[in-house]
Amino acid sequence: MNRRKFIIGSGAFVTMVSLSSYSYIELGKDLKREKIKRPNPNNFKEPILKAIAYGVSASNPHNTQAWKFKIVNELELLLFIDATRILPETDPTTRQIHIGCGCFLETASIGMTQEGFASKIYYFPEGDYEKKELGTLPIAKLILKKNINVISSNLNTVLLHRKTSRLQFSDDVISNSTWKNILELIGYKHNEIQLFTDVQFLSKIKPILSEGMKIESYCYRTNEESRKWFRENDDRIESKRDGINLPGNGIFGIKKWFAEKKLKGLESKEWNNKKTINYTLKSHDKKVTSSTNIITIKSKTNTMLDWVKAGQDYTRLQLACLANDFFTHPLSQVLQEFEEMKTLRKKFKKSMQVKENEKIQMVVRVGKSKEPYFSYRRRINDMVM
Ligand SMILES: Cc1cc2nc3c(=O)[nH]c(=O)nc-3n(C[C@H](O)[C@H](O)[C@H](O)COP(=O)(O)O)c2cc1C
Repeated sequence: MNRRKFIIGSGAFVTMVSLSSYSYIELGKDLKREKIKRPNPNNFKEPILKAIAYGVSASNPHNTQAWKFKIVNELELLLFIDATRILPETDPTTRQIHIGCGCFLETASIGMTQEGFASKIYYFPEGDYEKKELGTLPIAKLILKKNINVISSNLNTVLLHRKTSRLQFSDDVISNSTWKNILELIGYKHNEIQLFTDVQFLSKIKPILSEGMKIESYCYRTNEESRKWFRENDDRIESKRDGINLPGNGIFGIKKWFAEKKLKGLESKEWNNKKTINYTLKSHDKKVTSSTNIITIKSKTNTMLDWVKAGQDYTRLQLACLANDFFTHPLSQVLQEFEEMKTLRKKFKKSMQVKENEKIQMVVRVGKSKEPYFSYRRRINDMVM
């Protein structure tokens, strides 16, 4: 077994089973490529490594996994942003990257209830920071405490196999009773979570959401950022273990084969070709237009702390939806802070009757679909400082 030692704060060592398929979740034993996608918490001894193994399953923007961990001891860690994995063009304020940190913290905390641990999160333990200090000061300190009274969260039934679905949804509308179940499962939340199903209202909102994707795709800088994080074939997906890809966008079989051929080498010219962009936009628009449920997470202010907490809420929302057989798919474009999105962002804000200081942190379409793609995570030892 390949073991690596990490020196921890006290000068002692934490050992970790690493680079071994043994420590990763096995899905579909017959499918070779599905074998070793995400860390399996069962195969880590130290509670803090178990927490990381749960946490990295979290949703995060473009699957860049912009997380770095400083292990303090077997029960504590400091979470930092990995500044080499941020999205400066589409996320110039780093709001979404901070949401991804909140997603990690909540996923880890929920997972650890299964192990009989309560989690305490201390936000920005060394104080707030300027953007230029990003990655140098911690987002949070996570402290685990063994507690015999801790009950495993019901959200654990779906946590380790959670996924985003970018597939076509059926026309199932979330009923009042299902929404009640979802809210009950979410339990504690920091922000307002609203469900919109009114057909007339959605017919006004959905074109704005679609338009957001059009603006992001036709803006050269932001479209190039997607190219940077795009993994063009199975070998790249498997070796990089991050980013976005064709199967994650619901492109399989012969369509995938053709698309891979077209995108071979990921040339900027082909990526930014109007025909290529329009093909993607058409498929995206169809999925948005046919969606029957839109959910938003709205904060009263728009601070870094609000961003992290919105990520915690999104995690609980997504898992609660999954536990009720509904997938979520964020449609973040219209919320993004880059200049070219300004006019549409304002229009969306007005249409959603969002007050001056408030911010919709997440807008997601929600629905039932076929089983979507299960995305990779990098190895934990690549994320430990
Ligand atoms: C803040 C945030 C914004 C996101 N925005 C989008 C988005 O606009 N479009 C999209 O397809 N997925 C979006 N996602 C989902 C991520 O791309 C997804 O979580 C990541 O690729 C990992 O895949 P998984 O969720 O299936 O594990 C977002 C996730 C987060 C946390």
